[in-house]
Amino acid sequence: MAQHLAFGIDIGGSGIKGAPVDLRTGEFAADRVRIPTPDQSTPDAVAKVLAELVGSFDLPQEAPIGVAFPAPMDHGVVRFIANLDQSWKGVDLPALLHESTGHEVTAVNDADAAGISEQRYGAAQGRDGTVLVVTLGTGIGSALIVDGVLVPNTELGHLEIDGFDAESRAADSAREREGLDFPAWAGRLQRYFETVEMLLSPDLIVVGGGVSKKHAAFLPLLDLRATIIPAKLRNAAGIVGAAAMAATEASKGHQRKH
Ligand code: BGC
Repeated sequence: MAQHLAFGIDIGGSGIKGAPVDLRTGEFAADRVRIPTPDQSTPDAVAKVLAELVGSFDLPQEAPIGVAFPAPMDHGVVRFIANLDQSWKGVDLPALLHESTGHEVTAVNDADAAGISEQRYGAAQGRDGTVLVVTLGTGIGSALIVDGVLVPNTELGHLEIDGFDAESRAADSAREREGLDFPAWAGRLQRYFETVEMLLSPDLIVVGGGVSKKHAAFLPLLDLRATIIPAKLRNAAGIVGAAAMAATEASKGHQRKH
């Protein structure tokens, strides 16, 4: 694979998506492939889908692969998992996926991947200070980027607010599950973001996840000190960020060898 290309994969609750990414632009270099996440989303079942996905592209052996995964990743090991099968806890994701795909794999948290892609190619490009990227989907993911440097594995979706795990009330899945209209959901987001703002004083908040394309229905209803804006890469963010992070890892390995 040419040096400016890497392969990104996003493992989500409903779909597993992958595409080669042109790192010069942050755009897909070929059409994305999506395979539904197996009902039993166990490590073995997901590894099989990943092998199928990677096999559907003609990837050279040395191509860096980055995987965005919906859990905190402790140097590749899943620390806990909220929204996929519980048997993921303790799994070494790069080792498992190396076995199933034959490629070197870098595994990162999905919101961190989204944060990196927004910082390099999207809504947070060129922004210094404290930037917080929050993804609203099945869960709530967070990426904290300070003067361009990611602080990995923040789990601000699991803050306890008013006695609840925050994502159980304010994720997009809560809006859908409870049939909330946008003003009612925005009330919950206000409570969520004002708590995060009190704790971290971000300069900029970028809101991602599929629902961010409907940002006009809820972002104007929020009253915060920080500037709050929609993400640009939306559903591509996980794939693009994971590919970019894998290329960075691969270049470190390359430097170590020389
Ligand atoms: C997980 C995070 C993840 C977020 C979005 C949360 O439940 O704990 O690691 O980033 O969902 O998928």
